[in-house]
Amino acid sequence: DTQPNKSWLGSSISDICKGKGPWSFSVTPVNISKYHAVLYNLPVTLKTPPTPHCSSRPQHWDEDHARMPYSERNLYPVKENGADVIKLRWNIIKETYSEPINNSRELESAIMSYSGSVPKFLALHYFFEEVLSLEEAEYFFKELLPKIIKLALDLPDIVPGSLPLLKKNHNRSVSLSQLQISCLMANAFLCTFPWRKDVASTYPGVNFVRLYTSSARPKRQRCVSEKLKCLMHYFRRVTSKPPVGVVTFERKFIPRGSMPRWDTLDNNLGNTKIHINSSGTIEDDGLGFLQVDFANRNVGGGVLGYGCVQEEIRFVICPELIISRLFVEQLGDHEAVVVTGPERYSKYSGYGDTFEWGGNVEDDTPHDEYGRRRTSVCIIDATRFNKSLDQFYSSAMLRELNKAYVGFSSREKENLAPVATGNWGCGAFRGSAALKSLLQLMACSAAGRDLVYFSFGDEELRDELYNMYLFLANNRVTITQLWRFLCGFATLSLPQGKLYAYIQQAFFDGKKQPTIKKFFGIT
Ligand code: AR6
Repeated sequence: DTQPNKSWLGSSISDICKGKGPWSFSVTPVNISKYHAVLYNLPVTLKTPPTPHCSSRPQHWDEDHARMPYSERNLYPVKENGADVIKLRWNIIKETYSEPINNSRELESAIMSYSGSVPKFLALHYFFEEVLSLEEAEYFFKELLPKIIKLALDLPDIVPGSLPLLKKNHNRSVSLSQLQISCLMANAFLCTFPWRKDVASTYPGVNFVRLYTSSARPKRQRCVSEKLKCLMHYFRRVTSKPPVGVVTFERKFIPRGSMPRWDTLDNNLGNTKIHINSSGTIEDDGLGFLQVDFANRNVGGGVLGYGCVQEEIRFVICPELIISRLFVEQLGDHEAVVVTGPERYSKYSGYGDTFEWGGNVEDDTPHDEYGRRRTSVCIIDATRFNKSLDQFYSSAMLRELNKAYVGFSSREKENLAPVATGNWGCGAFRGSAALKSLLQLMACSAAGRDLVYFSFGDEELRDELYNMYLFLANNRVTITQLWRFLCGFATLSLPQGKLYAYIQQAFFDGKKQPTIKKFFGIT
């Protein structure tokens, strides 16, 4: 392609979509089974929210399900007339919110009345007292908060069924209506979910309390305030017009023995199409594709704290993703989560310290036949590398390759959406984009998907990656060959900037180490 000043190289997006547009790729079905819990009644009409489904003996307080704040086993000790009494926590919550709440101090004491000892809500007060105008704060407490409270207290009616936990090393899915998610989110906002001593360390936790109590450092408070604007906006939207669609959360696990044998896969890497763009973002320009979330093993990472990079931003502009923190256990090395159907509610500008809420988005992504927006987010957590060299050990590369493969692979075999990704693991987690891009290319090739790569402004990476890709394609290099070259690179302790040059030399030399050493001046 010879278009002047274009920011991309490789196949055009229309070519990647095979001329059929971005909404033509296959989707995983919603079939109720032992492995897929559906908490609403089928079919989904998209005219009104689906009605909630409730099994005959719903579980609200056992090892396998999310603990519901309205469970009769959710008890809380209080003092009444000087005596210790045990009350139903849900009743305390209902009583607390029968009185109007006029400001953030009152909201803090309301939450404290059923939460035990929690640090002060510094970030919340800062937001309402320093960031919002008086009128905005008044609007919130008079208009919006009562609606959030009503939505939260409707939980027993909106989510009467059992919500299974998506546990470590199990393939399982949960589908919820967007209305059910909004109701659970309203409870997270009011921090009503019981704290589970038994599992607290392996589930990320969804109560917003960490956001409210976040550090007093000005930069962090500013970032928390912008996230609160996104979340308020979400609640404004869902309480003024209940959403009608549904969302599926799928946990994927592939046991070690069923992973591809990377040293025996003879797929030609050139058969995978690649589009590399130095401008654009995954969420804006990866419409209809499998969009990668550069995740933490605790899904959402610091979204309910002060983190403000790719994952946290994605979660606050599409807040339905946040509810996964209630029921998705920490990810293991061979696991990923794919969320199908989350809606985008907000625009934003900036990144990290400069992140700002940018106003409303009307998401016009079409729905699939099951009532989900045709947006899929692939949650995969890279490894954090403190020493750059560590990422080139074959065990470390294997872990990343397998992780990407779990996220990208699908039971559907035909017409899979391309992966929309970028510098996964190369910001906060300090990996090398030269390496991660190749590992993602290999995982795409093995999973049968094309690759759309957003280099986030890095033109040099775009050009080098494309040249590397052309080299691999022109020489019909296979996954196995590239895997061997990558493993060879580690043994030489070369700087990471030499990776692509090394691969080309190794290919020409037929992997003769002595020549390579000479090429790089190593004696
Ligand atoms: N689209 C495309 N590329 C992007 C986008 C975007 N919207 N945003 C950022 N990038 P990072 P990590 C590029 O640091 O290293 C979170 O706290 C940009 O070049 O978010 O995997 C998680 O919860 C950026 O430097 O991902 C984890 O704890 C690079 O992607 C941790 O960070 C990496 O983004 C994960 O860190």
